[in-house]
Amino acid sequence: MKKTVLIGVTACVAIYKTCEIIRGLQKAGVRAKVVMTEHSTNFINPTLFRSLTREPVAVGLFDDRPGDPIHHISLSKEADLFLIAPCTANVIAKLAHGIADDLLTTTALATKAPIVIAPAMNVNMYENVATQENMETLRSRGIAFIDAESGYLACGDVGKGRLADPSVIVSAVLEMLEVKRDLEGKRVLVTAGPTVEPIDAVRFISNPSSGKTGFAIAEAAVRRGADVTLVTGPVDLDDVEGAKTVRVRTACEMFLEVDTVFDDADIAVFTAAVSDFRPSIVADGKLKKGIDDEALTRIELVENPDILATMGKRKRAGQVVVGFAAETGDVEANAREKLVRKNADFIVGNDVSEGKAFGADENQVLLVTKDDAKPLPLMSKADLANVILDAALEQ
Ligand code: C5P
Repeated sequence: MKKTVLIGVTACVAIYKTCEIIRGLQKAGVRAKVVMTEHSTNFINPTLFRSLTREPVAVGLFDDRPGDPIHHISLSKEADLFLIAPCTANVIAKLAHGIADDLLTTTALATKAPIVIAPAMNVNMYENVATQENMETLRSRGIAFIDAESGYLACGDVGKGRLADPSVIVSAVLEMLEVKRDLEGKRVLVTAGPTVEPIDAVRFISNPSSGKTGFAIAEAAVRRGADVTLVTGPVDLDDVEGAKTVRVRTACEMFLEVDTVFDDADIAVFTAAVSDFRPSIVADGKLKKGIDDEALTRIELVENPDILATMGKRKRAGQVVVGFAAETGDVEANAREKLVRKNADFIVGNDVSEGKAFGADENQVLLVTKDDAKPLPLMSKADLANVILDAALEQ
């Protein structure tokens, strides 16, 4: 389940930096929703935040919202964390005194979620005893602060009061939400989906792989901070936001794409159900029944490149290669045989007999290493993606 950060926005020049905070949170798989003070709408129209978050933006305490009559309560319950960035001296003062005279402050008073404040204001306002005491009061009540930075301020003064860098705010929030960023700086390559091997202009050999597992791994890797390339055969899934998604049709095309990125990858996960063979001849047009029966009934096949085996043999020290084994019997023995033959670090073995796994949202697998086989419980492909990435990091 995605975590939700409610972002309270107040009237301060630093408001434009909130856009970057939203993008940073979204990149880490966090849902961002904005509540603005009336004053802040003088700086930025709510439409900008609505477009960025693809969520309604709340402003007025008494705005009519059909189906949601008590908006501050629904907002306060939706939030896993309430971040106020930028937060003015005025809103800090109101929060310190329990004043709830607009939607933002009323929501802050009502929420049970942790509140994090990133102040931004003129240096004199920041250093004013009133502001300092208000911040101290809020700190003593368990409200977290992301300290303002010192530097050149919008008003021309120099001193403390500049909003912390958006990347610092995003990291602090992710840490509080316990969102893992353990793949930061790592390159992850994932293959996914089936391949399609044409017989003629309309017919082909393929399989029912949905690509869901590979896409889930790519999504999880992006959320955990990796630089991700996803090479996928034809599937009915949208590009993974934050990853480079490369769409191919045939095994040979997939091989060429993987070949160009594999050497730079730290972790490569081969989930694609690659066709082992392809027709040796592909007819230009559509073969006609009754005319081309010889070509239609005797399709000669040639072997496709084994992408995992080729890359596995090329693997350098420090690179982790993960393969999949879809089996209809003796999963462990077959997976182990593949592990050795393809030089993978581990193989995710799954039983695909009786239509299991293909296209489903859940899967039950066996993690097979050289001298171990760990059965995992039935879990969602999203959870499995994280377990596979955890195992890859442990290699
Ligand atoms: O040999 P088999 O197809 O069962 O091996 C499955 C594993 O090998 C999967 O990880 C799959 O992505 C990979 N593979 C590949 N290229 C092929 C065949 C399989 O990368 N031509």
